[in-house]
Amino acid sequence: MQHLLSLKDYSKQQIEQILSLAKDLKANPAKYADALKGKSVVTLFEKPSLRTRVTFDIGINRLGGHAVYLDSQNGAMGSRETVQDFAANLSRWSDAIVARVYEHQTLVEMTKYAQVPVINSLCNLYHPCQALADFMTIAEHHEDLSKMHLVYVGDGNNVTNSLLLAGAILGSTVTAVCPRGHNVDAQILKEAEALAAVSGARVRVTDNLDEVEGIDVLYTDTWVSMGDETPLEQVKEIFMPYQINQAMLDKTGAKQVLHCQPAHREWEITSEVMDGPASFILDQAENRMHVQNAVLLTLINRDIH
Ligand code: CP
Ligand code: NVA
Repeated sequence: MQHLLSLKDYSKQQIEQILSLAKDLKANPAKYADALKGKSVVTLFEKPSLRTRVTFDIGINRLGGHAVYLDSQNGAMGSRETVQDFAANLSRWSDAIVARVYEHQTLVEMTKYAQVPVINSLCNLYHPCQALADFMTIAEHHEDLSKMHLVYVGDGNNVTNSLLLAGAILGSTVTAVCPRGHNVDAQILKEAEALAAVSGARVRVTDNLDEVEGIDVLYTDTWVSMGDETPLEQVKEIFMPYQINQAMLDKTGAKQVLHCQPAHREWEITSEVMDGPASFILDQAENRMHVQNAVLLTLINRDIH
């Protein structure tokens, strides 16, 4: 059985197959109306969510399946019962478990006891469903991902880590520009570099915005992630030079702007850019559903390809 905890466990071919299936799901939804008929998926959230919760629920419904949502009270693993018992019980009723958790280790523990695929819908280290949707959105405008340069600016976090890994596997150029002290996880960067050496990708981390040239896509995320109680105001001074605004867009010449959302308008991104012609942020949000449906079909109906 295969899970989706991190994209680093997936080959280039597997990711390309998921992206290609997602494209077909988006173009030909009627073809897949019964694809998950009789199947149930539990979606479990230790943290808040808008996009992930709704795209899994509506997406599963569009495939003829049934989604069961467990909120932070009923999905609080390790409090009323152990992660082990959660995973073992849910496996008796459902065909897959989607989980948004604080600690990556919780997902690792789940996979030890789950008899069905476990899908990471965000943890402290990764956000693989997001990166898949991001590369799907980029691929809608860049035929050859090996010629695409994505620059992420802002806090080095779970989203950055997954973008670096996805780019490294798919052969793209990905640069993370993060202020000192807010860089990506050193171990994950090493893993991305190792994957890049195989695919021919280029992954790089810097704190200097001026070093970055030849940008196709600019990407940012919140400066403070869920689970970190630091007030945004406290990090404003450090992060403000990394804000995506019209001046940055003009200077870099990027044609496409992405943000996983939720966005803090006028902080990491201005409304002018977010609502402007270079923004593909709502396509990204829509593509979450198509790509996650592709993941579900791949992991549940393993004969889909
Ligand atoms: N991008 C994303 O995962 O959004 P939510 O936190 O609203 O699910
Ligand atoms: N880095 C953000 C992503 C939200 C979708 C967080 O973890 O809160």
